[in-house]
This record gives sequence, structure tokens and C-alpha cells, in this order.
Amino acid sequence: MSKKLKLGLFGLGSVGQGFYELLDQSKSPNLEIKKIVIKNPTKTRTIESSIFSTTPTDILDDLEIDIVVELIDDAAVALEILKQSLQRRKPVVTANKKMLAENLEEIFWLQKKYNTPVLYEGAVCGSIPIIRNLEMHYAYDALESFEGIFNGSTNYILTKMIDEKMSYEGALGQAQKLGFAESDPTLDVKGYDARYKLAISIAHAFGCFVKPSNILGIGIDKLSAYDIRFAKQQGCTIKLIAKAQKIGNKVFGIVAPTLIPLENPLANIKNEFNGLTLIGASTGLQMLTGKGAGSLPTGLVVLSDVASLASGFKYPYPKTTDDNSVAFEKDALINVYISSITSGVIRITDFEEFTGGYQGQGAHFMKGWISIKKLLEWIDRKDLSVLLTGDSYFRVYEPKKAHEFSLA
Ligand code: HSE
Repeated sequence: MSKKLKLGLFGLGSVGQGFYELLDQSKSPNLEIKKIVIKNPTKTRTIESSIFSTTPTDILDDLEIDIVVELIDDAAVALEILKQSLQRRKPVVTANKKMLAENLEEIFWLQKKYNTPVLYEGAVCGSIPIIRNLEMHYAYDALESFEGIFNGSTNYILTKMIDEKMSYEGALGQAQKLGFAESDPTLDVKGYDARYKLAISIAHAFGCFVKPSNILGIGIDKLSAYDIRFAKQQGCTIKLIAKAQKIGNKVFGIVAPTLIPLENPLANIKNEFNGLTLIGASTGLQMLTGKGAGSLPTGLVVLSDVASLASGFKYPYPKTTDDNSVAFEKDALINVYISSITSGVIRITDFEEFTGGYQGQGAHFMKGWISIKKLLEWIDRKDLSVLLTGDSYFRVYEPKKAHEFSLA
């Protein structure tokens, strides 16, 4: 880096403050924040007031500002900031997973159109360098699948509930207090946040774009005490797992509570930590882990993205092809336990392949291979809960032909 780079920062929330603090502590002679655009000018802050503005063009139209760092909550406004920055040829660092996940294909094309990069390592699993690894480390390894814990708040809540017998509400309250949870925590507990991160990771792992709304997401909000007892009885814990797999030219994905055997390394990832295992054709199984949420862990990754931009790095998107030959497929078969406290709620015919029914811990459990489409029909049912089996993978769904059901 030769020239001193000037930064414009949007947002001074939890991640923004972490980023500001780390940059300040680094005393970097090459990076300087010139302006911070905030929403609420009346909030008491310790930073010198002349740096603040409430007018986005104070950053966007400032020819001296080289890089835009976007760390606000509102996805629609964040997208507008990103577009206007790229139009002005200002590279962007963002951690806005909702905005990225919902618009990643367009953002990919905008980067090409304006020949200006966007980096977003902070959007997926906090401090863990996932995007960079999927892009570079696995550029020439055919990845088969990856799965992991992509949301710190739900992992924190599940750890407290399962290991410390804390109530769901108490654990959620603590995750909010510690700054891990989203400002709307239903995004965490209902699995939306993990779906955003999964959609972004799928683009970099397999080169195909998928809207998060096309990924089935089942949250942890319907898990019962029966499920937790059942998991323990099976020698397992429960984690909210995001997983994706490529079969031929099709990519499958899901976010759901999953029974994880205690000997699986993901079982030992606790509290706000995230972690994922990846299976590559040449590498075999690999694992990445680290803090998935929090001001400083995520702020550091944002700072590292800024430093990477300064040294000319951009995502090469090596797996993205112009012909979209690899595509996401919404439906698949997946191996699950469904539990309900009343019997007769689930039928054997709901499964494509039924493998067993159990009565235990005061609830009825049915196990087997079921279609994602069927699980989607039950998404709002309060009397059912779904647990993926820990060894579950995707099977291509070929619906049974009519004659297979025929009694004639
Ligand atoms: N609410 C998110 C989480 C923050 O709990 O993982 C980090 O993306």
C-alpha cells in the first residue's frame, strides 16, 4: 500500500464499533475513516462529532473517499448504498447477509459491469474465513458437500438449553444482551439468518446462485423438551445445521435442527461459536471453526476485507459459469425424525421411505426419508417438530409413480 486510503463508513452498530475500534487501535498509517454516516445523530458517542453525518452523499459523492464500508441493518438501504458506490467506482466491504443473499447474482454482475469489487467475508460465520477459502483454497477441488453451524445466537441458545438446562426465553435474552442476536431475533431462531449465509456460501462453493426463499429453513423455536431428552437418549446433541450438497449438476440445501452424535466434532462447537465441515474430492474432510458473532470478531473480518481491497484482492468467482449449468434444486429427500406429542398426526405415507416409529420421552417419533416439499407443508404446524438425522445427506427426489401406490 503506498497511498493512504480514505474510508467512508455507514453504520456504527455492534460490528461498526468493533471495526472502528480495531482500526483505531491498529494505528494504521495507510487507512483512515474520513466520514461515518449514522441514522441517529442524538445518540451519545465517544468519537469526535465532526466525523459524523446523516447524509449518505457525504460519503458517496466525496471524491477523496476510496472505499465504502457498509455495516447498517436495513437490507434495502444497504443495497442502494452498494449500487451507488459501485456506480461511482468505489469498492465496497459489507457484512449485510440478507442484502447479499437476496441479490447476489445481481451484485456479481454489477461488480463486472463497473469493474469494482465487493468483499463480504463478515457476512458469513463472523470471524471464520469461509468465503475466501471457498473461493481460493477450494478453487480447484471439487467440493461435494459442506455442513455446519452458521448462526451464533441459536448455537448459544441450544448450548444453554441442553448443557445448562436454561429456558429458551432466558437463553435468547442472554444472546440478545451479548449482541449476538439480530435486532429482530426471529431471524435467528426461525433459521432465516442461517439461510442467508447458506445461500451466499453455496454461490462460492458450487458456483450457482440461489435465493434464500428457495431454501427450506426450519428454526429451533419449535423444539420441545421431548426432543432434547430424545437427543440425549440417542447419544446426540441438537444443533441448527445449514448444509448443502452437489449431486451431478444439482445443488441441494437445507437449514434445520439436527441430531449430532457427541463424537461428531460439530457437537463440541458451543455458545456463539460457528463451525463447518467440508468434503472435497481431493481434500476429504476438513473443518473450520471460530466465533460466529460479536463486535470484535466480525469487526476484524471487515477490517481484513478492507486491507485485502487495498492490496488489490477481489473474489474471482472461479466456479460461476455463464451457462448456469449447475443449478439449485429445491426438492430432495432427506432423512428425518418427526416428533409430536399426539399420535396419529403423522402418517407412514407421508414418508417416501419409512424406517421406524418410536414412542419415547412422552412423544411419538417417526423416522424415514421424506421430501423437502412435504416438510414445507408442515412449516407452520406447532404440533410437530423436525430433526434431521446426523448422518443425513440429500437424495435426488424421484416421486413414486402412481402405479406404485395402486392396489389394483
Ligand atoms: N445474529 C447472527 C448470529 C450474527 O447469531 O450468528 C452474526 O451474523
